[in-house]
Amino acid sequence: MRAIMLHEPGDPDNLEWTEVDDPSAGPGEVVIDIAASAVNRADLLQRQGKYPPPPGASDILGLECSGTVAEVGDGVEGWQIGDHVCALLAGGGYAQKVAVPAGQLLPVPGEVELVAAAALPEVACTVWSNVVMTARLTEGETLLVHGGAGGIGTHAIQVGKALGATVIVTVGSDDRAERCRQLGADIAINYREQDFVEIVRAETDGADVILDNMGAVYLDRNLDALATGGRLVVIGMQGGRKGELDLGKLIAKRAGVTATTLRARPLAEKAAIVAEVRENLWPLVEQGIVQPVIGEAFPLSRAGDAHRALEEGGIFGKILLTAR
Ligand SMILES: NC(=O)c1ccc[n+]([C@@H]2O[C@H](COP(=O)([O-])OP(=O)(O)OC[C@H]3O[C@@H](n4cnc5c(N)ncnc54)[C@H](OP(=O)(O)O)[C@@H]3O)[C@@H](O)[C@H]2O)c1
Repeated sequence: MRAIMLHEPGDPDNLEWTEVDDPSAGPGEVVIDIAASAVNRADLLQRQGKYPPPPGASDILGLECSGTVAEVGDGVEGWQIGDHVCALLAGGGYAQKVAVPAGQLLPVPGEVELVAAAALPEVACTVWSNVVMTARLTEGETLLVHGGAGGIGTHAIQVGKALGATVIVTVGSDDRAERCRQLGADIAINYREQDFVEIVRAETDGADVILDNMGAVYLDRNLDALATGGRLVVIGMQGGRKGELDLGKLIAKRAGVTATTLRARPLAEKAAIVAEVRENLWPLVEQGIVQPVIGEAFPLSRAGDAHRALEEGGIFGKILLTAR
């Protein structure tokens, strides 16, 4: 098969479309003939040598894909050759084939096209595990999503609305604010011009749940924006990793701060998240209430151009890499 290989860490030109050995299905795994993969911000860090794959994971980039089951390993139940699937990967998505533990497979939901389904596994598992399983967002609460126009943000808006929450997002331009409102966001704040703390506090009693991609630079202001009993979940460190946590603010609000990552979790935890996504979120996708949001697509052989596009910014939703 062919795959995108990174011969040494560096800029997007270091991603090379080249011939490599086919994977085979180990016990409990299936091999997927990949239709499409998608670009994640973590891929940019891995390309730069700042985010090595966890032990045992493929060193080929790519954290999700869609495609057709091509091989089924020993002990796998419930999946057949030819099934249309999408999958959460620890690596290996920038290729024509990938081997993946069966617990990380999801069926292609409802009317979603096979290629478009590659935009779902990472955002679905990240948003559901953090906003619902960890932060326990419930109907009538307020969800603040930083980076509402990104891959995670566009999905979180739809999930938040489907759960009956008031959804507030931060975005980098008025145009992106408008697009987030069209997707369902109740309030969209241009973080370059407006103070999200002021607006959240003026419009609500505070955010019950905050899904944060910025880390250090927003830590203190996120505490200010939280409601009493609020839950801040940090999933990204785009604004730095070390900040000062004012425990006085946390105590006064009886609030909580959690930080999580999906990729490094043990297989059993990933499988548990995928199972919850399939049971609770997939019906919403099957009904078209939650849809993949795809900003741009590139052939997989041009993964370097896709990385440049994500680095430049301005993409609304996900970037796909098509493999066929
Ligand atoms: N922990 C995990 O398991 C996990 C899993 C998946 C993703 N993540 C992380 O989650 C974050 C979002 O991922 P993604 O796939 O959605 O990436 P993405 O599509 O590249 O989106 C990044 C977002 O960051 C926003 N942003 C930049 N500066 C900002 C600021 N000062 N305030 C608020 N937002 C700002 C951008 O907004 P504008 O473009 O509108 O300026 C953009 O929407 C990334 O940091 C990623 O690494 C973590």
